[in-house]
Amino acid sequence: MSRFPVRRPEFDFSGVRLFFYDDNALASAFWAVLQALFPDGERFFIRAVRDCRKRIDDPELQKDIDTFMEQKANHGRAHREVNAMAQEVHGIDLKSIERRTARIMALFERIHTPMQRLAMTAGAEHFTATVARFLLRHPEYLAGFRDPDARRLVMWHAIEEREHRAVAFDVYRGAGGTYWMRAVMWLWMAAVLAPWLTFEIVRLTARLGGFDDRAALRRGYASLLGRKGILMKIGPGMRDYFRRDFHPNDDDQSALEAEWRRELGWAN
Ligand SMILES: [Fe+2]
Ligand SMILES: [Fe+2]
Repeated sequence: MSRFPVRRPEFDFSGVRLFFYDDNALASAFWAVLQALFPDGERFFIRAVRDCRKRIDDPELQKDIDTFMEQKANHGRAHREVNAMAQEVHGIDLKSIERRTARIMALFERIHTPMQRLAMTAGAEHFTATVARFLLRHPEYLAGFRDPDARRLVMWHAIEEREHRAVAFDVYRGAGGTYWMRAVMWLWMAAVLAPWLTFEIVRLTARLGGFDDRAALRRGYASLLGRKGILMKIGPGMRDYFRRDFHPNDDDQSALEAEWRRELGWAN
């Protein structure tokens, strides 16, 4: 048994709204683009850990790796499902964003060594764990997901990102990964992904007519980059990654995570 479980919650996305976050085009475009990134992103992380796991002797960590992979495969599947449903119901094209993600991940796989890909994975996992911490600590933000199943999807994913947050990092460290490689790979990944994601978000917002309503646009912008916006709030947590003695488990939110598990009706 690993230190955290695999769950397969059932979702019904048939009623998914077009503006599923806060009835707001920009904020919904942000989450839709993130969700389009997940399926192939998660697959990239799984492969990166798989390619380096032979260097790990710790049997506990090996079991965690198995569960990490299963959790991630389930996340990828669920997000692909909600994206497909949003495309079917509302005719918005998210598949093409998924395809471009796959192409970028394939490029990373061609040009990087397994250890470099694992360093990227450890960095990306810190990002998801930091976003997850924000969501768990800010129920008022989470409430912006108005569809119960969209909210449940995000909470399930967030809790599991918290549970497996140290796996890729521990494999990286156990396999002899250095501080400099993980710092540089994080910056490289951000330099590639941030401009592209911004472009995708702006383009999708435009397609959703999000630039027509200035007040809504301002509200969406504030939810991302305002003083209380999600991207501003996760900044300090992201900077921790650049400490030499950083470890994902330094940030313990287990009491809060247990509260959310209860809320979702899970025994563990
Ligand atoms: Fe995930
Ligand atoms: Fe993860």
